[in-house]
Amino acid sequence: MDSISQLRALKEQAKQGGGPERVAAHHKRGRLTARERLDLLLDRGSFRELDPFVVHRTQDFGLDKQKFLADSCVTGWGTIEGRLVYVYSQDFTVFGGSLGEVHAAKICKIMDMAMKTGAPVIGLNDSGGARIQEGVVSLGGYSDIFLKNTMASGVVPQISAIMGPSAGGAVYSPALTDFIFMVKDTSYMFVTGPDVVKSVTHEDVSFEELGGASVHASRSGVCHKVAQNESDCLYLLRKLLGYLPQNNMEDPPFVKTTDDPLRMEAALDTLVPDNPNKPYDVRQVIGLIVDSGDFFEIHEEFAQNVVVGFARLGGHSVGIVANQPMVLAGVLDIDASEKAARFVRFCDCFNVPIITFEDVPGFMPGTKQEHGGIIRAGAKLLYAYCEATVPKLTVITRKAYGGAYCVMSSKHIRGDLNLAWPSAEIAVMGPDGAVSIIFRKELSEAADPVARKAELVQEYREKFANPYVAAGRGFIDDVIEPRETRARLINGLEMLENKRDSNPQKKHGNIPL
Ligand code: HXC
Repeated sequence: MDSISQLRALKEQAKQGGGPERVAAHHKRGRLTARERLDLLLDRGSFRELDPFVVHRTQDFGLDKQKFLADSCVTGWGTIEGRLVYVYSQDFTVFGGSLGEVHAAKICKIMDMAMKTGAPVIGLNDSGGARIQEGVVSLGGYSDIFLKNTMASGVVPQISAIMGPSAGGAVYSPALTDFIFMVKDTSYMFVTGPDVVKSVTHEDVSFEELGGASVHASRSGVCHKVAQNESDCLYLLRKLLGYLPQNNMEDPPFVKTTDDPLRMEAALDTLVPDNPNKPYDVRQVIGLIVDSGDFFEIHEEFAQNVVVGFARLGGHSVGIVANQPMVLAGVLDIDASEKAARFVRFCDCFNVPIITFEDVPGFMPGTKQEHGGIIRAGAKLLYAYCEATVPKLTVITRKAYGGAYCVMSSKHIRGDLNLAWPSAEIAVMGPDGAVSIIFRKELSEAADPVARKAELVQEYREKFANPYVAAGRGFIDDVIEPRETRARLINGLEMLENKRDSNPQKKHGNIPL
């Protein structure tokens, strides 16, 4: 065989992964191979593989007789919409995608390149965890990756997709990245599997119940987005990248829009019900304001009392944080605070302006929340908004009560443009609670306490439950007609385009984790 034929044969061999039988079994389970996934993720023909000749060095447990070119991870770079990304894709057909020394080294190599060239890293995970035969060497490999994930955090976007199992050590690298996407029904994540759970806690639990996409999307909050199938997942990854810059030194890409930046939206004038106790869907508000109604929601099924995600306004990428009156009246509880805090910090890392839509009755009361640490969780959100130096624009649509008023990007914590609709109610607390406290004595002595309370509530509402007291102090920059919100936000974003702000020099702050 001449040298070129030999090279071609070797490259072809690397493409076979664990061999035709294992590939067929993998396909039979409805799953794509590591390379097929990369073909769908990246622009056609753009993938350049690195290290296809790498093989493991283990001698133990008969592994010296089982070598696969490229080992259990395909790595390299390519483009998405013409923009450079680094990728790794774990190959389940080789030792169950398990991670040993060389698998880890391959991932570390592309991460180093991503840091040098300032480009995102996307990991497609499908792995049984640490390669058991390699012992502590695999643990070392994981640790090397964890360190690189941490160093890259806030420098380049890191996104993980879980395409199959992600067991043991395999969960922690994704957990250190910015976003985790999972595939419905075929992916799962857990630190220890059902068998270990059974032996330690005597619980009987299936893979899906323990760590399937729906559990992590709705209960643990580990998963940020659930895809219907593998190709949907790869499409969603491409879509997410469209909102993000390549690294922390760049601005997100501008995408020209045909949606009129001055578009008035009359439907917004009547969207908030007159009755302050009636809900409405804040996603409708968002949909009417952003370019072409296109909202890429993150963490959709988790802590639904707050809504977060990406959109564009006049072509500019923005991160949106919105209280959701439809769920628990939009109250801030532990999960909602943590969800929003993490999102705010992501946007701040990567120069994505933050738009906050506020309608929040306060923090959630009760022993469950207090004992669970709502103080610490609420402080996370406060901290995140306080330290953020990206443009921060706020629209108070209705309630802005108590600590939640302060937290949700208020003027006092460096909000750049704070607008309110005429329906805004800005006060220390809602009329009912306020009257019960400040008029307790008077009400206990009143001949008709119910009628007197109604009078006092009305008086309080007229005095405080409006935006004009706050606007009179300059805490709100302007009260606007709801219909003009889109135009005012786009104008505000453009006014803030060259905003410069910074925090004091320090090693790092101490966010209340
Ligand atoms: C070596 C492994 C492996 C592993 C799977 N394989 N996991 N090889 N190390 N960790 C191999 C299997 O031997 C098998 O090889 C092939 O991959 C496919 O595995 P199956 O079990 O046949 O597949 P399936 O039934 O789909 O089950 C997949 C699985 C299961 C759920 C992932 O393999 C499993 O439970 N693996 C172990 C998961 C785990 O406990 N990992 C934790 C490791 S400790 P053949 O040759 O038969 O095809 C850890 C701690 C690190 O990760 C901590 C760092 C912080």
